[in-house]
Amino acid sequence: MDNLMGYVIGETSNTELNFLAKQLPEIGSYVSINYCDLEILGMVESVNQGCKIFEEVYNIKDFEKLKYFENNDSYYTIGKIKILGDVKNMQIPRIPPKPGTEVYNASEKILGEIFSKGTIEIGNLISADSKVKLDVNKLCSRHLAILAITGMGKSNTVSVLLEELNNIHATVLVFDMHREYVEIEAKSSIIRRNIIRPKINVYNMSYDALMTLAGVDPQATVQRAMGRRAMKKIKETYKEVDFNTVDEYINSIINELNYYMGMDEFKSKVDSILTLIMRFEDLMTFKDKITAINYNPIQDIKENYVNIVDISELDESSTDLIISYFTGEILKDRKKVLWDTKVAKPIFIIYEEAHLIVPQNRPTKSKVPISKIAREGRKFGVGICLVSQRPKTLDQESLSQCNNFIISKLIEPSDQKHVQHASENLSEDLLKQLPGLNVGEAVIIGPCLKIPAMVKIKRFEGEYGGEDVKFDELWTIEKEKNIPEFIESNELFNDDL
Ligand SMILES: Nc1ncnc2c1ncn2[C@@H]1O[C@H](COP(=O)(O)OP(=O)(O)OP(=O)(O)O)[C@@H](O)[C@H]1O
Ligand SMILES: [Mg+2]
Repeated sequence: MDNLMGYVIGETSNTELNFLAKQLPEIGSYVSINYCDLEILGMVESVNQGCKIFEEVYNIKDFEKLKYFENNDSYYTIGKIKILGDVKNMQIPRIPPKPGTEVYNASEKILGEIFSKGTIEIGNLISADSKVKLDVNKLCSRHLAILAITGMGKSNTVSVLLEELNNIHATVLVFDMHREYVEIEAKSSIIRRNIIRPKINVYNMSYDALMTLAGVDPQATVQRAMGRRAMKKIKETYKEVDFNTVDEYINSIINELNYYMGMDEFKSKVDSILTLIMRFEDLMTFKDKITAINYNPIQDIKENYVNIVDISELDESSTDLIISYFTGEILKDRKKVLWDTKVAKPIFIIYEEAHLIVPQNRPTKSKVPISKIAREGRKFGVGICLVSQRPKTLDQESLSQCNNFIISKLIEPSDQKHVQHASENLSEDLLKQLPGLNVGEAVIIGPCLKIPAMVKIKRFEGEYGGEDVKFDELWTIEKEKNIPEFIESNELFNDDL
């Protein structure tokens, strides 16, 4: 048979083995081994080539003489196989194969059967002409992490996922930090986009969160204490519907603080109260775009749409507040829906730059609701996807709740170890492949696929905002506009400057 790859050699086990290869196997390719009436599927995880003739020759002249006698037959190739399971049930066999057992290239038919079962078409196997489709239920409920160094195709992967999810009428929410998806358009389908300009309900915010939004220093204990007191009083006195605008609510807090200023009890705190009032005034002036009252973010989310939350213009702390607020409210809403109707209303939430939102060594407001969803979202139909180019700075706890991984090139060993720590399925040999992956190539592991795969992610056919800027083309267009050759900049000599 021409698809004979070679023979099992050395000591074998039921999880991994070596084989002497007849043909040079590709890393990531699949092999099948028949023994004990089972057809076992394996993946080639590493390949080594050697030549006995050249061993221990350290003199260049001798080496060159020997090279004269060398031909292709002088080489040997040893491949290392990770056993994935039997073709029928994907169960690891209980016994290892005997040395000498034949190793075959896995047939396209078998690979087709394994990889074409899902609904989300993500790309092709690198080593064979087989489409790879992911199981959407396992992908969303068991959470996903998309990891790679910058420029390796994370946003392209997200765009492919968005188009595929859109095709099955999924409800998706993306926090778009760099306006990459706000104008996403696919060539072959219409992506139902719902752009959300996010707002936070000031009345529903915790006292501390509202003060953080107003810019009150976390260490300013007197301001924080006075703020809490004023807000508590206002909330006890008025309901949310009593206010028509954010300014009405904030002004009522300011009035309360003004009242404290006149009280003997707070004489020594007048300066702090005054600063706090200024902060609240600034809140009304500068944060008016992201604040609202009598508002629930859930009303902005459209079911069966790709909802894109445009957070591109927010600073870091407002981004954190918006993400934590939306995430928390979504989980609350989904829990309530399930309890009330006994039917879940699934949603998949994508967090770009996840290392900024759920960082490893720093508390953020978003970390609490996101790690909560990572732990318990599965039961309520809330799935998350963490996208990051700096995995080692990503919260280990949330990362390890992601069972599905799409990992492209990762160079730094500390990034690799961090990911390996979070995913027991990422073997040492697969890890070694990560630095060698090219743009758009990725290792996919997790329950969304029956077996791990090295995949060429398909190129998103359409437009999204994160593509590499073509410097030369853009500069050439400018050049063609007949720019004068010499510009005398009078301003530079202007005395007024
Ligand atoms: N699967 C693919 N096939 C072909 N080209 C791709 C693929 N994925 C990405 N590219 C190209 O690589 C470039 C960078 O891709 P992308 O913006 O997705 O990277 P990224 O990992 O999101 O980068 P960043 O970390 O900066 O956000 C783009 O120009 C894109 O066209
Ligand atoms: Mg990107």
